[in-house]
Amino acid sequence: MKGRSGKDKPTDASPLFSSHALSATSNSISARAQEIQPFIVMEVMERAMEIEKRGRSVIHLEVGEPDFDTPEVIREAGIRAIRDGRTHYTHSLGLLELREAIVEWYRKVYQVDVSPENIIVSVGCSGAMLLTFAALLDPGNRVLITDPGYPCYPKFIRAFEGVPACIQVKEEEAFQYPVERVESELDSSTRALVLNSPSNPTGTLTTPERIAELVQVSAGRATIVSDEIYHGLVYEERAHSILEFTQEAVVINGFSKLFAMTGWRLGYAILPEYLVRPAQKLQQNLLISAPDFAQYAAIAALNEAADEVEAMRREYDRRRKFVLRRLSEIGLELGAEPTGAFYVFFNVSRFTSRVYDFAFQILEEAGVAVTPGVDFGDNGEGYLRICYANSMEKLEDGMKRLEQFFECAQPVRHSVKN
Ligand SMILES: Cc1ncc(COP(=O)(O)O)c(C=O)c1O
Repeated sequence: MKGRSGKDKPTDASPLFSSHALSATSNSISARAQEIQPFIVMEVMERAMEIEKRGRSVIHLEVGEPDFDTPEVIREAGIRAIRDGRTHYTHSLGLLELREAIVEWYRKVYQVDVSPENIIVSVGCSGAMLLTFAALLDPGNRVLITDPGYPCYPKFIRAFEGVPACIQVKEEEAFQYPVERVESELDSSTRALVLNSPSNPTGTLTTPERIAELVQVSAGRATIVSDEIYHGLVYEERAHSILEFTQEAVVINGFSKLFAMTGWRLGYAILPEYLVRPAQKLQQNLLISAPDFAQYAAIAALNEAADEVEAMRREYDRRRKFVLRRLSEIGLELGAEPTGAFYVFFNVSRFTSRVYDFAFQILEEAGVAVTPGVDFGDNGEGYLRICYANSMEKLEDGMKRLEQFFECAQPVRHSVKN
């Protein structure tokens, strides 16, 4: 089986992973499960862990997870909720008190009015996305996504027999959706367009002007699904919610990144009226409800954690500036400054035409785990992603190791990107 870039990346169905057991029982494994590509970042992390087991140190710059523990005030609220017996199913839309806190958040941060009746709280952004695509897609429906983009989008879309339609976004265009291309891709089978600003993996923001253009071209033709999970983690300009431009879009948001709550598994969708009841019925059947006590912790996150969140944001910014300075000193210049999330996506195509192998080479030789750009789509070939959600000490060590690695790296003759 070929990887997404057409290269021989290992997949669960490839010889590297498939055991005799898989081939013997493959008749009873769905095509969907056999075809799904692994999440490469997890493969890098698992290889890094093997290396660590052999006694070598590895600096982890691969996984996109806050290194901070959940702020104390949020944890205390969660603990209190458990003590108070908040350990049951909740309303399938989520606790009203939490939905009201989300309404207040969107009013305060974006000056937009939403109703608690339009919000469904789910199991992370991932749960909210699952419900959204399940509610939106019939088999064969196309969803426009960026390449590079978050690797799980195409997996969610395919899970409902939708068709991900990848639109290349380019570094020299600051990774903005090209509007003309979007327009030409919108056909009668297109149901949605996914917007993710700030973006994983590029850390760049879509400009408000571009969002307005996307809203205009997609009006009446495709629903914009705006994944706002990195909102708040911005270091220059502010991030704009899609709801500042249209009420017809879907917002996906959650608590994992801004509030360092990945393990609480809590997120939500803000839906136009016609999608609420379908999403609610899907949640009732597929997930029942989001975790009870985690919802109480989330209320504290929205209402009581402003200082802790700001301290984390400032620290990410300090690290971002450090990584950008060190990359420049190493001679790895960026065409588009990442001003959001906690990622830097940089071009190494002058050193390799197979970035997947190159990332594993860096891991083995330099002891630094980074994510190859092809995890995010074919157009990520030639790029590496660093996640700077790690301590300054580790980042300093990691960048020193990368500097030594690149001092010895030989340029290849034919680069993939110019
Ligand atoms: C763009 C994007 N959306 C969604 C998610 C998943 O978020 P959650 O932990 O809330 O399910 C991630 C996680 O890395 C992400 O990067």
